[in-house]
Amino acid sequence: MLVLLSLLLLCSSAFLSPALAVKATFFDGFLPNGNFEERPKATDLNKTTIKGKYSLPKWEISGLVEYISGGPQPGGMFFAVAHGVHAVRLGNEASISQSIPVKPGFLYSLTFGASRTCAQDEVLRVSVPPLSGDLPLQTLYSSNGGDTYAWGFRATSKVAKVIFHNPGIQEDPACGPLLDAVAIKELYPPMPTKFNMVKNGDFEEGPHLFNDSINGILLPPKQQDLTSPLPGWIIESLKAVKYIDAKHFNVHSGRAAVELVAGRESAIAQILRTVPGKIYNVTFTVGDARNGCHGSMMVEAFAGKETLKVPYKSHGKGGFKVASFKFTAVAPRTRLTFYSSFYHTRIDDFGSLCGPILDQIMVLPIRY
Ligand SMILES: *[C@@H]1O[C@H](CO)[C@@H](O)[C@H](O)[C@H]1NC(C)=O
Ligand SMILES: *[C@@H]1O[C@H](CO)[C@@H](O)[C@H](O)[C@H]1NC(C)=O
Ligand SMILES: *[C@@H]1O[C@H](CO)[C@@H](O)[C@H](O)[C@H]1NC(C)=O
Repeated sequence: MLVLLSLLLLCSSAFLSPALAVKATFFDGFLPNGNFEERPKATDLNKTTIKGKYSLPKWEISGLVEYISGGPQPGGMFFAVAHGVHAVRLGNEASISQSIPVKPGFLYSLTFGASRTCAQDEVLRVSVPPLSGDLPLQTLYSSNGGDTYAWGFRATSKVAKVIFHNPGIQEDPACGPLLDAVAIKELYPPMPTKFNMVKNGDFEEGPHLFNDSINGILLPPKQQDLTSPLPGWIIESLKAVKYIDAKHFNVHSGRAAVELVAGRESAIAQILRTVPGKIYNVTFTVGDARNGCHGSMMVEAFAGKETLKVPYKSHGKGGFKVASFKFTAVAPRTRLTFYSSFYHTRIDDFGSLCGPILDQIMVLPIRY
């Protein structure tokens, strides 16, 4: 009887949406001591330098790692720490790492606050072996130093080793990127539906958003769709795109959208399964995030052999328009790509890159 009952339970649970059943347990939050507010013991510090491999609580360190409090520093520098009060600075060839339990085969994204401190060409290498990515920090996307990035990986075993490393060799050994908070989110892999062939076309599934992330989250370039922190989407080219949420920005639909902040230097793309010869209709919205980003904007969209240029006049006060075009598939795979034709900065802050926002991307076959 008991066996039968549990069988029945198993059967009935199969009718529940597996997505919902799994989603309820998806983790989303800081890594242990992910905001570095748990301090090393006073005896484990020499001024700001952390002594000993295991002296930074919950982390393992190697090389010259400094424990920093935000604000003016001895020697005249100023470090902005956007999330909390404390941060770590990774000197030449230094790294910090932590091993966390994960579910093999699942997609994750790390969200972290990072900024350069002295040299233009500082790079932060983030890796979860076997995957690794280099983030060039020379482009400051917001002028207050509080840039936040997301990077995605797929777990290959039950434990993931998250490593942040400074591969640089600067003249000043202490020079190097500042890391001020690290969070992780398990991502739900979106699928195409009969209502939309585009996966995650509304950008509702994306990286962890710090509750104080007023600047949005930068999605660095060269991320493939299989491991992207924006599930389903490839982030192409040389510079980042920005993931913005409805809490801090004007988002026309749902909880999130993408801001194309780096002109033609950054694009997002998705590969669609198509039937050669069939005609498809692409629709999407173009607007502004009500963040003072103003001017004559243009979003270019590409699919098959078709291109659509969508002009949008932004007053920086929030608004949007709907655009659509059709294309004939020439292959069983069609790449759908979007970028901004121009560069923009905010009316109140010429140091902050911004651009048009893209949302609600939909592709459906046209039936005659
Ligand atoms: C602290 O660092 C300085 C400079 O690197 C070094 O000369 C000194 O010996 C260190 N002190 C201790 C207690 O480790
Ligand atoms: C943001 O989250 C932190 C850590 O969970 C919390 O201490 C803080 O109060 C939150 N801030 C806001 C504005 O919700
Ligand atoms: C494409 O879809 C949009 C939105 O549903 C619609 O307004 C437009 O007429 C469609 N275009 C074609 C060619 O079917």
